[in-house]
Amino acid sequence: MGDLVDERAGGAVRSPHLAPPGGLSVWDADPDLGRVVLSVGQIAERVAELGEAITADYADRPPLLVGVLKGAFIFLADLARKISLPLELDFMAVSSYGSATKTSGVVRILKDLDIDLTGRHVLIVEDILDSGLTLSYLRNSLLARGPESLAVCSLLVKRSVAPRPDLEVAYVGFYIEPEFVVGYGLDVAERYRNLPDIRVYKAGEDPE
Ligand code: IMP
Ligand code: MG
Repeated sequence: MGDLVDERAGGAVRSPHLAPPGGLSVWDADPDLGRVVLSVGQIAERVAELGEAITADYADRPPLLVGVLKGAFIFLADLARKISLPLELDFMAVSSYGSATKTSGVVRILKDLDIDLTGRHVLIVEDILDSGLTLSYLRNSLLARGPESLAVCSLLVKRSVAPRPDLEVAYVGFYIEPEFVVGYGLDVAERYRNLPDIRVYKAGEDPE
């Protein structure tokens, strides 16, 4: 049990479960978090638009959404409910080696799909394109499995990504500046995935 005490009890004890004083959320009080890049409202509005577009484009061929864990789990959950089609869902988990905030380019499949892709209309759902290495690897890996079609939906694309045919993204939520961001599924060392909006992570330039 925590040391939960409130004002009515006359106590000055602070609980880690209570918001800090002054109406700030725990997130607002976190010195490692910078400005809000995308608000809860902006994200929700855009996710609904993406869902509508996908619903229209896939009306006659319900897609198999392939969520890329872990970063895309919240986006996928919201997006899937904005697509009014009898779709299928599966997940892959990949990890790219590297430091906390930089990708090395070596991708490893930690969990593979359960569903056979043959003849299916596959839509890869990604959280963010940074260097594009993860997506490039995933695309090639899934293309080799004989899907009827393959397209990509990424919530975020960093403006630093140079356009390349193997990085074609049919559905982009937002283009953002090449800063490290967290929240709405995106982490740094497994933290901040449950931050409801998307913010700059400013603690660092991690030591390498
Ligand atoms: P890539 O550089 O495009 O291969 O990005 C690989 C993965 O790194 C993404 O799927 C994310 O999981 C992670 N990543 C890249 N940029 C960010 C960021 O700004 N915040 C959190 N994770 C990121
Ligand atoms: Mg990550």
